[in-house]
Amino acid sequence: MKPFDVYPLNDITIVKAAGSYVWDDKAQKYLDLYGGHAVISIGHTHPHYVKRLEDQLHKVGFYSNSIKIPLQIELAEKLGKVSGKEDYQLFLCNSGAEANENALKLASFYNGRKKIISFTKAFHGRTSLAVAATDNKSIVAPVNETDNVVFLAFNDEAALEAYFKQYGNEICTVIIEGIQGVGGIIEAKDSFLQKIRSLCDQYNAVFIADSVQCGYGRTGLFYSHDHSGVKADIYTMAKGMGNGFPIGAISIAPKFVAKYSMLGTTFGGNHLACAAALAVLEVIEKDNLMANALEVGNYLIIELKKLSKIKEVRGRGLMIGIELPEELKDVKKNLLFKHKIFTGEAKPNVIRLLPALNVTKVEADIFLNALKTELG
Ligand SMILES: Cc1ncc(COP(=O)(O)O)c(C=O)c1O
Repeated sequence: MKPFDVYPLNDITIVKAAGSYVWDDKAQKYLDLYGGHAVISIGHTHPHYVKRLEDQLHKVGFYSNSIKIPLQIELAEKLGKVSGKEDYQLFLCNSGAEANENALKLASFYNGRKKIISFTKAFHGRTSLAVAATDNKSIVAPVNETDNVVFLAFNDEAALEAYFKQYGNEICTVIIEGIQGVGGIIEAKDSFLQKIRSLCDQYNAVFIADSVQCGYGRTGLFYSHDHSGVKADIYTMAKGMGNGFPIGAISIAPKFVAKYSMLGTTFGGNHLACAAALAVLEVIEKDNLMANALEVGNYLIIELKKLSKIKEVRGRGLMIGIELPEELKDVKKNLLFKHKIFTGEAKPNVIRLLPALNVTKVEADIFLNALKTELG
């Protein structure tokens, strides 16, 4: 048997990692400003994280949701506190797609409706409803196609208002990333998020904040949607939550009433996953990582904006998109193979920075100097 070949791979094998650095099998060191796609939130192999997982593994690694798991309560309390949503409720799962799938399902259980509003360039995952709400036809299989999802223009308040006016009482939910990641680091305007909130209130629709990539402290506030000053009904999260251990979750407003069997999972909320997520939150809190994300992120954005060859710098905190002109299409590849720096990408020619929240200014400077060399 061999792996199903669905990923275009870089010819690099990572065998060791620490903080914002990784090493390959030839002992070559790389600076990691990609974090395996926004997953490494507190740095690779963080000692507190390693110890908490190791200790937990010696006690119990897994048991299903048929018994009491006090770690889930501890995690719910900690997440409520760090995210500033102490009155919300927590449902644990295993990935971002699963979090969105559960959020969409819960919204439909709540108001009994079917129509989902998503936006152009949105990415919400690859499971059936999540992928149907993703604006990329090439990853939607015929079986995922549904008339229940409509795509409206991102940040277009008039279009949203008009749609609600026509179909208001049929709309189940609006799902939106605070900053579109796969779409190329495009921020939802504060006024747009405020408009979604007021329309959802007016028509009893559910506001789902997809925080899988833009959340977990990356922008300096816990959820990037928080910058708009409004609260969503359901926040979905995954990536940074377990620093690499697979875990996802939805944070659910008090108005939703749980019923047995409404949602469920075998692996979600297992002992090891909870230990990983608790370790992440403990480090975020103790080391003040949201403040660091804002400080180093602002520094990077200010410095990047000084570089005239860049078409546009977008984003907030440590979720940064650098759009380059077509003729500079090799920059990302050169950063990796010449300068040994991992970054992410998005179409058309956008470099995505998604480093650990404890990346330092010194590491930011290493990247800036390499980029300046490449821009010439
Ligand atoms: C905004 C957003 N939502 C959902 C997902 C899906 O997460 P996962 O790959 O963990 O299923 C992603 C993954 O890139 C994402 O960026």
